Amino acid sequence: MTAKPFLRALAGETLDRPPFWLMRQAGRYLPEYRALRAEAGSFLDLCYAPDFATEVTLQPLRRYHMDAAILFSDILVIPHGLGQPLSFREGEGPALPPIGSARDLDGLNTEGLLDRLAPVVRTVRQLSKALPPETALIGFAGAPWTVATYMVEGGGSRDFARIKQLMWSDPETFKRLIDLVVEATATYLIAQIDAGAEALQLFDTWAGALPEEDFRQWVIAPTRALVARIHRDRPGVPVIGFPRGAGVLYRDYVIETGVNGVSLDITVPLDWAAKELQPLCTVQGNLDPLLLVAGGEAMDRAIDRILAVLGRGPFIFNLGHGIVPATPPEHVARLAERIKAWRA
Ligand code: CP3
Repeated sequence: MTAKPFLRALAGETLDRPPFWLMRQAGRYLPEYRALRAEAGSFLDLCYAPDFATEVTLQPLRRYHMDAAILFSDILVIPHGLGQPLSFREGEGPALPPIGSARDLDGLNTEGLLDRLAPVVRTVRQLSKALPPETALIGFAGAPWTVATYMVEGGGSRDFARIKQLMWSDPETFKRLIDLVVEATATYLIAQIDAGAEALQLFDTWAGALPEEDFRQWVIAPTRALVARIHRDRPGVPVIGFPRGAGVLYRDYVIETGVNGVSLDITVPLDWAAKELQPLCTVQGNLDPLLLVAGGEAMDRAIDRILAVLGRGPFIFNLGHGIVPATPPEHVARLAERIKAWRA
């Protein structure tokens, strides 16, 4: 049996045309998602209902036949599984009671984690049976730093003032928090692999918020610990890292974490990535999601340039960040056609 194109690319092969999938490929830009979401109730209800979550994962594949499906869930199920209350306010994003001290951490632990997250793991199992044979299944989690930002800020943040205060004024408590998230995330990702996930992506959306020294300590080191744990306990399962905003530190991130693939944000120069990153691991990216909203010639030109510069090495086409709700579905169809028609 020949391996799935997505997994071959992630193993370092250059294919005739790169495999593709899109971050946040399931979601509000699709009318069929909005319909199912209305039926399920809240966003979290959707994440914890395996039949609904399976269906939502499959929706974009039916339209665009991506080379990989990504489990439908959210990075914040980890804090939720650790016992931190979580809600998603309509139009406002996530809300959690912020962790401000060692005492707030005392109530959180990994004891109930796999029970609480069992429905998500069940979704993975259902998906691995439902996918077409050539389509790979990606499991995911937030990277510890990014997950910790939501836990300490109590939601999204502009300046990360609370987490930086905790990190620099009480490093011991902060380390306890990161270690707890690493432990929970390792357990959760291994459960996803055992349920059928064939590759993993670690989303470090806010990696670019840290000065170099802290980036090494709180982005690279916990990611390295997670990747090592997965490679040791489940050898052969590749991991893609997405240290969004890491700039020139992308290179050290790849070398030091041991990831098998790296997802480029929209700012990473293509020629630099081809020269400095592609010899080290498979690269993935990095069309600006707003170009997918604009469409037209600007989008076509950007797609062609990415393919020309990165398509002749180990490469997976993706966006530089998640699809936005305003994306016209027909622009996604045009993108899919253009990638599928290209030849190295
Ligand atoms: O890629 C996929 O299709 C899989 C599903 C997925 C979601 N979130 C679904 C979702 C994945 C991989 C994520 C990751 C995620 N979640 C990240 C990292 C990647 C990134 O986009 O930066 C982050 C930071 C989150 C946290 C989160 N979840 C926020 C800040 C929000 C609110 C903002 C928003 O877009 O609404 C969410 C909600 C969320 N996660 C939605 C979806 C489809 C929208 C919920 C809805 O239906 O209203």
